[in-house]
Amino acid sequence: MYRTHTCGELRISNAGQQVTLAGWVQRIRKMGGMSFLDLRDRYGITQLVIDDSISHELNEVAGKLGREYVIQANGVVMERSSKNAKMPTGDIEIKISAINLLNASQTPPFTIEDETDGGEEIRAKYRYIDLRRNPLKRALELRHKMAQETRKYLDSIGFIEVETPVLIKSTPEGARDFVVPSRMNPGEFYALPQSPQTFKQLLMVAGYDRYFQIVRCFRDEDLRADRQPEFTQIDCEMSFVEREDILNTFEGMTKALFKNVLGLEFADAFPRISYSDAMKFYGSDKPDIRFGMKIAELKNLQSEQEDLVSGKSFPVFDSAQYVGAICVEGAAAYTRKQLDELTEWVKRPQIGAKGLVYIRVAEDGIKSSADKFYTPQDLSAIADRVGAKVGDLILILAGEKKRTQEALGTLRIEMGNRLGLRKSDHYAPLWVYDFPLLEWDEESERFYAMHHPFTSPKPEDMEKFYSDNREDIADVAANAYDFVLNGTEIGGGSIRIHDSAVQKRMFEVLGFSSDEADYKFGFIINAFKFGAPPHGGIAFGFDRFCALFGGQETIRDYIAFPKNNSGRDVMLDAPSKIDESQMDELFLKSTVKR
Ligand code: AMO
Repeated sequence: MYRTHTCGELRISNAGQQVTLAGWVQRIRKMGGMSFLDLRDRYGITQLVIDDSISHELNEVAGKLGREYVIQANGVVMERSSKNAKMPTGDIEIKISAINLLNASQTPPFTIEDETDGGEEIRAKYRYIDLRRNPLKRALELRHKMAQETRKYLDSIGFIEVETPVLIKSTPEGARDFVVPSRMNPGEFYALPQSPQTFKQLLMVAGYDRYFQIVRCFRDEDLRADRQPEFTQIDCEMSFVEREDILNTFEGMTKALFKNVLGLEFADAFPRISYSDAMKFYGSDKPDIRFGMKIAELKNLQSEQEDLVSGKSFPVFDSAQYVGAICVEGAAAYTRKQLDELTEWVKRPQIGAKGLVYIRVAEDGIKSSADKFYTPQDLSAIADRVGAKVGDLILILAGEKKRTQEALGTLRIEMGNRLGLRKSDHYAPLWVYDFPLLEWDEESERFYAMHHPFTSPKPEDMEKFYSDNREDIADVAANAYDFVLNGTEIGGGSIRIHDSAVQKRMFEVLGFSSDEADYKFGFIINAFKFGAPPHGGIAFGFDRFCALFGGQETIRDYIAFPKNNSGRDVMLDAPSKIDESQMDELFLKSTVKR
């Protein structure tokens, strides 16, 4: 037996016991004829004490040990004279009588501490060492708990977990596919699933009316803090349901996760907002509602509300389709320098605003960067519209409606960050519903599905869906919904098309010829001819869910072996070239010079 206890287990009640521990040497200190050694394993750290005067042999072995050596140590549990209240095992130490060196270690490239000295690249290269650190260990433990609780909950309400294949045909989710050449079918390729979307729908046709799977998905897209090329979904589908059934079921699952993983109870129903209101009030389809600072419209040519800014000879506002504002509470004292810096910030290409107009609502009056054009009464009317009080700062952007709403949304998040309003231990869940079904792309002159092509139009928009008029089609709403947590899109889903004629029409609207649609998606159009039940579902980004539960926005540490920003596994050095013979076998030729 290698060990009788773990390194996180022993307490004062074990004093006097003979024990054997095994683990990694965290550090060794010598002090007045004694050596103190911290031994670490997955469960914690225990202090070992070697009395140098007792055994020459023990002394010799201890002298050879270094950081991260793997040892087995035998001794007696003793009460410590100077206790360490910060360590769960801090009341005791082990007086060692034997040490067995199980394996040596090179000096690790960085310290195995919560705050390590290793940079990102080196830690990624030695991920197996980085994973020894507490923050990563806690992240993987949280992920494990999330998976267990998810399975437990869904099983308890009759869901069946079914595995679906990984070598498949393209499933359109808006990203590029990773493809796998087929040796047995020369010149042909499998695609890795961007999601198991079509399979879960086929399972509904097969009658498995409550399906889920914690499943790996693959998307070849540009990476960000919350995106990986391979990531995991809690993928779910149900039959004989309407939107309400899906939202209620998965609100239940989410509440169970909050309760059982974080100990948080949400008594009330999660708030809901339509896509158009989310854009109007938050400038985002994934609003962070941990704080207010809602956008107020000062001018919107498509709205009935009074235009407060035009006709005052201010050309920027006169010519704008839309002018919107946010009220930053208590920020009237922002200096000129801070406001200039903020103006430069909104002009960056990522945001693309042309400029920023501000109004300070101060004790000594209301002042604006557009004072030349607006009387104090004009400014007061604006302050009333945005709900500003004395001490507040109003920030105004103008331009094309959607772009300006989005710019205001980004500015709102930035101000929320600067004011410390986005606390990671405060959770604000939200459902967003009624997304547009389609997006028109000017460049390729075609429609794209906003969610995916299997999403049903809302029944009341079915007539428009069959219209010949592009404007009508662009106006069709989808029976789709997202689950948003703290400004991150965690889940997305929809009620599906289950009628083969409607599905065919969808492919037609998306610009597929009938032959193309049959070649790519004939299997699902056909399946719908064999008694497809009404169905719908949702998929949650499991990595994102875990990261947010852990209080982080970056998912990388919640994945044991993630890729870097260029999609590389720097530990494996993948992707990598393959042999010419393997290329030949797969009927492949590379145009890249070796
Ligand atoms: P969607 O494409 O919205 O829907 O994906 C669902 C959720 O998966 C997460 N996600 C990602 N997480 C990490 N890295 C990525 N590259 C990545 N891409 C997506 C997000 C997202 O909300 N089949 C549909 C679901 C359905 O309709 O039922 C789908 O995949 O959190």
